[in-house]
Amino acid sequence: MDIPQRVVEPAKRKPIPKDPASLGFGRYFSDHMFLMEYTPSKGWHDARIEPYHPLALDPSCMVLHYGQEAFEGLKAYRGKDDGVYLFRYRDNFKRMNASCERLCMPALPVDLVAEALKKLVLLESPWIPKSPGCALYIRPNIIATDAALGVRASESYLFYIITGPVGAYYPEGFNPISIYVSDHFVRAVRGGIGAAKTGGNYAASLVAQREAKSQGFSQVLWLDAIHRKYIEEVGTMNMFFRFGDEVVTCPLTGSILPGITRDSVLQVLKRWDTRVFERLCSIDEVVEGLRKGTVKEAFGSGTAAIISPVKSVRYKAEDFQVGDGKTGPLSKKLYDYLLALQYGHEPDPFGWVERIA
Ligand code: COI
Repeated sequence: MDIPQRVVEPAKRKPIPKDPASLGFGRYFSDHMFLMEYTPSKGWHDARIEPYHPLALDPSCMVLHYGQEAFEGLKAYRGKDDGVYLFRYRDNFKRMNASCERLCMPALPVDLVAEALKKLVLLESPWIPKSPGCALYIRPNIIATDAALGVRASESYLFYIITGPVGAYYPEGFNPISIYVSDHFVRAVRGGIGAAKTGGNYAASLVAQREAKSQGFSQVLWLDAIHRKYIEEVGTMNMFFRFGDEVVTCPLTGSILPGITRDSVLQVLKRWDTRVFERLCSIDEVVEGLRKGTVKEAFGSGTAAIISPVKSVRYKAEDFQVGDGKTGPLSKKLYDYLLALQYGHEPDPFGWVERIA
């Protein structure tokens, strides 16, 4: 399909940040964006690339009141060979369609949006940072645009993709972070929207996140909403614990996000013949393991966070150190290997990586 593009004149383009250390996460946006609209009579239409610009929305439009929206997060990488690489991007659109289904929104045509994504990334390729650990973050978003206040599914939608260069998600970089277990607030309950990548889940997390931050912690570790007992996820990432030579992550119970990096970690560990289990794991089991020293490592996985080692856990006002409080060997090996795949530095036995330029 032809996707028309209207480009910003070179002299009017924004300056591209030069210092990788100053990038942070989600602070800079590139010059262009992809957009298309949906109506029941026309389906998805008017696919196009335009200069990055603010959206004009009716103040009554549904997304602003009832949160009917879904988003994704993925990255484009610049290899040492100067190639541009994408990682499992079709899986992001498949997951977005699962989110759309849960939120009564129309499915995206995966072939078309994959084409649009590649075209946008190629146009913005000067924005892809060259430093290791940095990438061009890509944020697809679908929002409900009917101008109406009755609570129902919207009929019209806008889908768009924006991009921008990013460094590490956490200020700690790849250094281990401290996490805080919330036993009061919950993020999502089975049967709710916890498995969908939608703003409501992130809004629900803010109060505990603020509580955690005020006590010096980077992130909140969520427990299941019914028993307040089983480990779920960390909002921005899925969690893994290494007990001796066994790795455990919680199963996709319906209230946690089915992370693409989570799935990549599982597949990589299986290929390395590491014993890995998707099973319910209670906070009591983790705390006992931390006390006895049988929990050797803990780390999170996510597109933004990549692999993020955890050095300490606070639960019910007690602090527990993970292992020796430093990045563990498995976390380091996974981080190095995933990055090497994503940047095209290592042969890809999984069929996850596509070089597009
Ligand atoms: C990601 O890992 O890409 C996410 O979407 C997590 C967060 C930044 C919202």
